[in-house]
Amino acid sequence: MSKFQKEPTKLVPVPSTNKIPERDVDKSPILEARHLGIDFGGLTAVNDFNMAIGRTEIAGLIGPNGAGKTTVFNLLTKVYQPTRGTILLDGHDTAGKTTVQVNKMGIARTFQNIRLFSNLSVEDNVKIGLHNHIGYGLFSGLLRLPNYWKEEKIAHERALELLSIFDMQDLANAKAGSLPYGAQRRLEIVRALATNPSLLLLDEPAAGMNPSETAELMENIVKIRDTFQIAVLLIEHDMSLVMGICEGIAVLNFGQIIAKGTPDEIQNDPEVIKAYLGSGKGE
Ligand SMILES: Nc1ncnc2c1ncn2[C@@H]1O[C@H](COP(=O)(O)OP(=O)(O)O)[C@@H](O)[C@H]1O
Ligand SMILES: [Mg+2]
Repeated sequence: MSKFQKEPTKLVPVPSTNKIPERDVDKSPILEARHLGIDFGGLTAVNDFNMAIGRTEIAGLIGPNGAGKTTVFNLLTKVYQPTRGTILLDGHDTAGKTTVQVNKMGIARTFQNIRLFSNLSVEDNVKIGLHNHIGYGLFSGLLRLPNYWKEEKIAHERALELLSIFDMQDLANAKAGSLPYGAQRRLEIVRALATNPSLLLLDEPAAGMNPSETAELMENIVKIRDTFQIAVLLIEHDMSLVMGICEGIAVLNFGQIIAKGTPDEIQNDPEVIKAYLGSGKGE
């Protein structure tokens, strides 16, 4: 059993037959994907993807490179419109919505390859995330109206508070691009959190981190879930992280889910072992 959870999570079905943690079942899932799919020309990158995530669940999406994991994130965040299927966010159909709209509806993400404004300060990168949710308009900013200064003070304090999750408040004035790699990855998570999500998508958050950074990241993901009472869906190859903190896990192979379940169920699934886990670490 992982040191992060006192006892294994029991997954129970919601009406669609997707499963979520028992403790979340009195509320509808924060996310439900039904029969989701996308084709790129002749290539079916994702097909018949079904998944539900509980309000406070840490869920995992794993599988070999090229399986379609990042494409699922791109579908959930409307970088691509799905060819098939439905995405319900907090019970609302996101069909036809844009990336900005679904962010405002509560979905935020980080990228497999870091995307920060590397010439801006750490604090400004977080403020870009805050921008959506604090009403400091461009107009009052340009004219430096009184409202601007009031909002600017709120944004400054909120940015420092969010940075303190990762103990990064002292780096607020550093240039984002000057931070070590691991700190840049943490900053991306802070920036995503600044948009006040109810579901946080993390694409390979431990990539390039050493084992002690990864262990710290695991603790922090759990801390984020506990503090903000939000759901997290993460893509990750580091099995110590996935099996240590994820509750429901889906395994993708060639765009199809080949298994879903708890860490125990996934680790003992013959098809998963054959397609992914058996090859060592799944790289
Ligand atoms: N915009 C796109 N156009 C064409 N093919 C794409 C596009 N995005 C992803 N793919 C293809 O979809 C498949 C899944 O890619 P991806 O989701 O990045 O995999 P993973 O994140 O699991 O490694 C790959 O074959 C990839 O080349
Ligand atoms: Mg990927």
